[in-house]
Amino acid sequence: MKNLILIAPPAAGKGTISSYLVENMGYQHISTGDILRNVAKEDSERGHFVSGLMKEGKFIGDDIILPLFKEELLKIKNQSFILDGFPRTIVQADYLTDLFQEIGIDDYVVIQLEIDSSLLLKRATGRRVCTSCKATYNVYFDGFKPKVENVCDQCGGDLIQREDDTEETFKNRYEVYRSETEPLIAYYEAKGKLKKVNANVTEEEILENVKRCLND
Ligand code: AP5
Ligand code: MG
Repeated sequence: MKNLILIAPPAAGKGTISSYLVENMGYQHISTGDILRNVAKEDSERGHFVSGLMKEGKFIGDDIILPLFKEELLKIKNQSFILDGFPRTIVQADYLTDLFQEIGIDDYVVIQLEIDSSLLLKRATGRRVCTSCKATYNVYFDGFKPKVENVCDQCGGDLIQREDDTEETFKNRYEVYRSETEPLIAYYEAKGKLKKVNANVTEEEILENVKRCLND
């Protein structure tokens, strides 16, 4: 199976697609957002620093994220994997290109999720995440709502809102995406690795198109 890099604005559905591919196709998943949310819980200078930046919707510096990412990638490099949230800048993309070369990975596809920006704010502010199993819901969209308000369907855990899912922080995250991450689309297009998937549609349709890209 081809390795997959997902490029998309905040709250476009990267994590939702990844969960499906992990559960149904045996992919490994690296989410740098999840890695950094764990770092942000540390009661240390680094933890407080990361937590502060994430609450503002700003990127964490490469001195912190690059070694954390590399460590995770090296653990799973011999299996099919999804990169969700990495790379996010041209510097990170160059780093990844070099790392792939070093460890002999060339079989990958980059999927850009195309989505109307008007949908994103609701996807972010309506998101609820299980504190225990991390399952993700959305209070605004049918098919994504929990059966019982604030209770996880899968494990009964409490559902909470992510600290960066406020309207104000979402707007910052979106602006940073436009300026720092969107240039990666041209970067991977030039390498002949880019495919586009319409993410304005139902989850089933999105997954069908993602699977088609993985099989091409
Ligand atoms: P990260 O956690 O990666 O956040 P993000 O990119 O903003 O993406 P999200 O996790 O918010 O959204 P998603 O695309 O996964 O959507 P989801 O599937 O949950 O990063 C967070 C922060 O960490 C960054 O801001 C930065 O500070 C830092 N960071 C991370 N990586 C970094 C890096 N490489 N360098 C530096 N800093 C880094 O879906 C969203 C909602 O929509 C859910 O409620 C879901 O249920 C719902 N939904 C999904 N699909 C559909 C659909 N088809 N229809 C309706 N609703 C849907
Ligand atoms: Mg996510």
